This record gives sequence, structure tokens and C-alpha cells, in this order.
Amino acid sequence: MNDYQKMRKIPITLVVLLILFNCLYSCADKTYNSETDIYRKVDSIMSLMTLNEKIGQTIMYSGDWNKTGPYVTSDNMKLLKEGNLGSMLNVYTSKGTKELQKIAVEETRLGIPLLFGYDVIHGFKTIFPINLGIASSWDLSDVEEVARISAEEASASGVHWTFAPMIDIARDPRWGRISEGSGEDVYLTSEITKSYVKGFQGDNLAHLNTILACAKHFVGYGAAQAGRDYHTVNMGDNELRNVYMPPFKAAIDSGVETFMTAFNELNGVPATANQYIFKDILRDEWGFNGFVVTDYTAINELVSHGYAKNEKHATELAINSAIDIDMMSGAYRRFLKELVSEGKVDEKLVNEACRRILVAKFKLGLFDDPYRYSNEQREKEIIYRPEFLESARKIASKSSVLLKNSDEALPLDKKQTIALIGPLVKDKKNILGNWAAAGDRNGKAISIFQGIKEYLDDKNILFAKGCDIDSNDSSGFSKAIQVVGKSDKVIMVLGEDYNMSGEAASRTNIKLPGIQTDLIKAIRDEFPDKKIILILMNGRPLDLTIEDSLVDTILEIWYPGTSGGLGVADILFGKYNPSAKLPITFPRNLGQVPIYYNVKNTGRPISIENPTEDYKSNYIDSPNTPLYPFGHGLSYTTFKYSEIELSKENISETEVLLASSTITNTGDYDGHEVAQLYIHDKVGSITRPVKELKGFKKIFLKKGESKTVTFEINSDNLKFYNNGKLTIESGEFEIAISGTSDFEFNKTFNLTLN
Ligand code: BGC
Repeated sequence: MNDYQKMRKIPITLVVLLILFNCLYSCADKTYNSETDIYRKVDSIMSLMTLNEKIGQTIMYSGDWNKTGPYVTSDNMKLLKEGNLGSMLNVYTSKGTKELQKIAVEETRLGIPLLFGYDVIHGFKTIFPINLGIASSWDLSDVEEVARISAEEASASGVHWTFAPMIDIARDPRWGRISEGSGEDVYLTSEITKSYVKGFQGDNLAHLNTILACAKHFVGYGAAQAGRDYHTVNMGDNELRNVYMPPFKAAIDSGVETFMTAFNELNGVPATANQYIFKDILRDEWGFNGFVVTDYTAINELVSHGYAKNEKHATELAINSAIDIDMMSGAYRRFLKELVSEGKVDEKLVNEACRRILVAKFKLGLFDDPYRYSNEQREKEIIYRPEFLESARKIASKSSVLLKNSDEALPLDKKQTIALIGPLVKDKKNILGNWAAAGDRNGKAISIFQGIKEYLDDKNILFAKGCDIDSNDSSGFSKAIQVVGKSDKVIMVLGEDYNMSGEAASRTNIKLPGIQTDLIKAIRDEFPDKKIILILMNGRPLDLTIEDSLVDTILEIWYPGTSGGLGVADILFGKYNPSAKLPITFPRNLGQVPIYYNVKNTGRPISIENPTEDYKSNYIDSPNTPLYPFGHGLSYTTFKYSEIELSKENISETEVLLASSTITNTGDYDGHEVAQLYIHDKVGSITRPVKELKGFKKIFLKKGESKTVTFEINSDNLKFYNNGKLTIESGEFEIAISGTSDFEFNKTFNLTLN
């Protein structure tokens, strides 16, 4: 009898004692098993498993929902009872997960617990701003807090694993999933990735409030051609390794347990069957030993890609790329056993996949107490804790980017009468944004209207919807104009419907939808001098060129989440001084897309003095510059940066360079500033971007106060991939510390290799 048999053969009284013991243990929140223990126990279980049961661990299906909660279709129930279903997605609630877990544990031959995965993307019940918003905070402790609270709530609802963070670099605002990532920059996204992983997984997965994280989508998904979701990706290895892969490497460095494949093909080979990225790089080069799940039905899609002859062939290709879990394709279930018996797939690959999945289940403590995450009492206590809602409020404030604020139209004076205009003023549905997990779109969220009511007397608030988000009906314009006529200032809350970003929500037009811009024009025509403050809820950089010319202030709040109305009102009335900076470039027009700050120089760069010069790399009908650059974001106060100071002008590979600048708050409000460190490697064996973010620090300065920020630059900051090799080269670098990516370098240092 081996260990696992012994464990299952113990008399029922002992089982009860064991569960009690485990419960005490889990309350004490300790690690159950050491790494070696886990591997020994997994081997012991695997020695009892049939090939079918091992394949069962690689199979994942979704639960369905009715009014009473999650349920499982009869086909999947059969699989579950046969011990041929290893994990499920879209199942949560402590009650629902417990019921299904009971079947897995008590009604199958070996009683292996199920793993429940879910898209906990920017919150579980308490919804935070969308991820592009969270990234705008440039605050790593906030990112970690979002992930930690999400894990607290999700784990209390029976979820063991989130399909997050989504760390695809994205530079094309047509792509709807740009909302779900952390923007265009490699360094910022990589730092944010580490904080998400840390927040979700904590220090120890055996703790009750931690869940498995998943780095997705490996890789290149954000570079879909023309911003159309799922579209083709072609890119050279240098770009892949220097831009799209670093966040994934950062995820591994911070201990991420799982990876998800991308839907796209990469240079002719779909990611889900791409041995180069999954075997050569992820497993061999990076040594990743967690498990990899496919994206939804991605194995079947290998046939549509034109890469697999049929689903059986697709199965062979995926398992040969070391892909462990088949999410929703049913291909592993139907063909893996046959492929093994035909000798087309080495059984070793199935064993490896099964082992990796079981290891994760052990790490979560599921073999010790399969019901430990399904505790109704705990669920009640944890969901929507007041401090979570308070955190969501704070992060909504910290994620809102003040793009423009002429004549200090903001902050507002509590005594003035404000006209609130627009389809999103009272909205409680869109405000959660896409991928809002188990968030409540029917009431729990606090609208902008409610948030403002916390600050203003009812008599000082006027409201007119004006128009819908996306229709041609202008019949509400006249009422809006009437209302504006009675006000001191106007706040317009406009934007996109939440379904206009997210998966399968690419747009060919990145302007405000419908006639919302016409509504602004109508109000501006009628009231040329009235202050108009535009608040925007949207999931991508929009083309705001017209709006910028019409309004005084633009506050980009993305979709700010459950406590969004309060967080935004805190900014409007000056309780929080805006500090967010764009993690992504806002173009002047769609023709400039893709546009991002760290471009290459080209052989014919334009000069600042004469940007329209002929035969230069420019447009004949638009400037090259964006409307709002990466790193841009205003405050109610102003900051002055002193000239950058370097500890040395020449460094060797082993030396550290210190770069400092003194920042002074020169305005009338206390506030936070995000100091950004940029470098430019002037000459390389492959050309280097004109600017690269290499560090940032968020500091708080009282009005009149000065602080010196110092960055350390070491050789790691100066390396890049060329032809698969991480290299470092002697030469001259430009360097700057700035509050935006829109600046000119005026300082250099040299690197000399020993
Ligand atoms: C998305 C993934 C997501 C999965 C499960 C897919 O359509 O691309 O990001 O995790 O569905 O919901």
C-alpha cells in the first residue's frame, strides 16, 4: 500500500479527525507540505492512476449558471464522476464549489480534488478600475493591493486560480483587449506584473487567501495585425524578446505558477502549438516548471489556423509543445489516449502534464482539505469588506489621469451649481468595465452622480442625459442645453459602452461613439465661455483631438469600478490631487496607430525645428507627435525638475551609476509626482529605441517642498537581446529624469566594458 492508498484507507473517524485537524491547520494558515513532500506524494498518487485518469487531469471544462448558482452539464458530470475532469472554469461560490468538489472527492476512484479557475482580472466582487487604469497609477503597492484583495475575495468564494495577470504589451488602441493590460511599455508592464503575481500568490499558496496566478497570453497577442482580435502576429525574434517577452520573464522571476497560451499565430506557428516559445524558451531557457493552460478552445483552433489537419493532429501538436491543460477543446479527452497507444505521443508527456497539475493542487492544500476554500461563513465575512471598497475608492482616484486642465477648471467649488450631462453620469453598469468577474452590475457600484452627491447639496446638482452612448438620437440635446444654462460649470460624463473593449471588441474607429461629441459641440456653441469638464469612461486610448479643442478639462477615469463614483468625486473636489500618468499613448488620429513613445529613430528622423520637412519620416497631413504622450498626466499643482546629476560620467559593467534630480512642488496644492527615468542607447549592434523607461518613483511633495529622487542604473538596465543573446555593449547613453516621456535629453554617460 503506498502513501496515497494509506491516506484513503484510513477509517472514517480518522478522516473526520484529519479534516478537523486540517481545518485547524488551515485556520492557522500554515504550509502543509514541503516541496520534496509534494513531489513524493504526487508520485505516490500517480503510481495509482490509469492513463485515462492522468489525461483526466489535463481536461478543463466550464460550469454553467442558473438562478441557484453554478451547475455542470450531464456530459461533464459523467466525466467528473469517472475521475476524468481535472479542473473547471467559471464556477464559484463556496456552496457551488463545495458541491462539485464533494463529487470529485467522494465519488471518484481516487478522490483527486478539482481545481477551480476564474477570470479574476481587476477584482472579484469588489471591482477595481480596469487594468489599464490600475497601470495609470504607476503605484506598485496599489497593484499588489488590487491582486491581494481580489485573491481574498475569490479564494473565499471557492476559486483557486485566476487567469491573470494579462501582461500583453499592446500598442494598437483598436484592439479591445488593450483595456486588460498595463499598456505599451516593457519596463512598466514588467514591474506591474511582479506586483500582480505577488498580490495573487502571496508568499505561500497554502495560505487560504492566496490563489494561483496565470501569466497570459504567451505570446505576442497584443500585436494582432491592425488591432483585430485573434489576428496574425509576425515579428522578428529581437522584438519578441526585447518587447513582448520581458513581462513573462518577470512573471517567472516572481514565481508565477501557471501560463496561458495565446490565440494568435506567431510567425506562422500558432502559439498553442509553438514549440519554440513553449519548449525552447519557456521550459528549457527559462526553466518554468509550473503548468500551462491553453486559451479557450485554442487546440481546436489549430485546425482553423491551417496548422493542424484535424483535431487529433492538433492534440498531438499541443501536447508535444508541453501544453498541460486543454481548456474547453475536448481534444485531449478525445484523442490523447489513442495518440499514446499509437506511439505518436510519448506517455511521458502526459505524465509530466499530470504531475505539474497535481503539484499545484498540493501547493494549494487541496489534498489535505479539498473544501478549505469553500467556506460559506468565510465567504460572507470577506466579500465586500468595507476596507476593500475603501481601497477601490482610493485606487479609482489614483488611476484617473488628468489629461488637460485649462484655467484650473478643476477642482470644483462646493458652492457652485454643476450641470451633470451625459449618458454615463448615473451609470452603474459600465462603470465596472469589461472582465468584471463576479462584480454586480445591478446596483452595488457607486455612480459618478452618487459620488458627486457626497460633496454637493441637491440644489446645486442639475442633470440631463443628453444622448445615449451609441445612437443618433439628439432629442435630449435641448434639455441638456437648458440645464447647462442654469449652471456655473458643466461636467460631461461620456465614453464607450463597457462591451466596446475587452475580448472580441476591436474597433476601426477610436473616436467617442455615437453623437456624444456633437453634444459637446452643441453645448460649447451655446456657451462659449462656460467651463466644460469632460470625464471619460473608456477602455482604450481614444482620438480626442476634437474634444480637446472644445473642453477645458479632460479627466480620463477609464472604468473606475465599484467605488468609482466616490474616487472620481474625490478628485473633482480636490480631496485627492490627481497623480496618475498615462501607461499608453493617446494618438491625434487613427492614422498614427500604432504609436508609442519608444520608437526607433529611422534614417530620416524629423527635426523639432522643422517637423514638416520633405523626405523625412513624417506624415503630410498630421504631426508625428501624439495628442497625449506616454507618461503624461497633470496634477492640480506643478513640479519643477532640477537638472539631472550623475555620480559618474563613465561606468564599467560592474559599476552602478546614480542619477538624481531634485523635484520641487511649485504650485498651490500638495501632491504626488511620478518621476520617470529614461535612457537612450545611442548606437547598438541592433538599433535601439529613442527612449526607454528604466525606472520610476512616486513621491509626495507638500506645496513648496523639494525632494531629491535618485535612481541606480546597473548593467542589467542597459542590456538587450540580439539574435537570442542577452548582450551589453560599450558606448554612449543619453539619460533623463522627467515627469513625462515628452522631453529632450541633455545629459550622457559612457559604458566601457572591462
Ligand atoms: C480569454 C482568456 C480567458 C479565457 C477564460 C478566453 O476567451 O482569451 O483570457 O482567460 O477565455 O475565460
